[in-house]
Amino acid sequence: MACFIVFEGGDGSGKSTQVRSLLRRMRRRGIKVMQTHEPGGTPLGQSLRRLLKSGDPMTPTSELMLFEAARAQLVQDVIRPFLAQGGVVIADRFTSSTLTYQGYGRGLDRELIERLNREATGGLEPDLTVLLDLPVEAALARKNGGRADNFDDAPVDFHRRIRRGYSALAAADPEGWLVLDGQRPVEELGREIWSKVQALL
Ligand code: TYD
Repeated sequence: MACFIVFEGGDGSGKSTQVRSLLRRMRRRGIKVMQTHEPGGTPLGQSLRRLLKSGDPMTPTSELMLFEAARAQLVQDVIRPFLAQGGVVIADRFTSSTLTYQGYGRGLDRELIERLNREATGGLEPDLTVLLDLPVEAALARKNGGRADNFDDAPVDFHRRIRRGYSALAAADPEGWLVLDGQRPVEELGREIWSKVQALL
């Protein structure tokens, strides 16, 4: 049965680990499933990802539009066709990342972002969003060794605004979001996410 599950969280929140773990659990049970990771996932998306991570000077508006361009292509070419075949898509980041990073983080207008999100996705919304929440200091400490880019270099306060943004989005839609303490043991988080997803399927 088609289902669209999105993972969100700040840099270093452990999303990618949980995405992989959920993907493995589903594959073991023979469920038709794929993962995406934004920005990227299409040839255009990969090119835009390189640009976004190049460190080239970029206005917040330019950045917003590049993320949305990558998303529009990914939704049309990958996500919608897979859902249409009855598959489960697990997305590492989606529209909420833009609301938090470009909205709460960069200070761009929320209505503009919502409008572009709708245009890029054709109104596609997740069946469930999993938020891995943890203190900014703990998350950034996990990232040491990671390559520096536009976002890794951002001041701690930027990441604090993003965390607050995620909390606000989740609080506004408690049915649609599963908020988990990202500092809990990886295995335990994996089991809780899996039981929520099973209920959904
Ligand atoms: P990435 O290396 O993929 O990190 P992560 O594993 O945390 O997703 O880098 C993607 C970066 O882009 C990340 O810092 C979040 C940021 N981002 C936005 O600012 N806006 C967006 O709409 C998306 C999808 C990502």
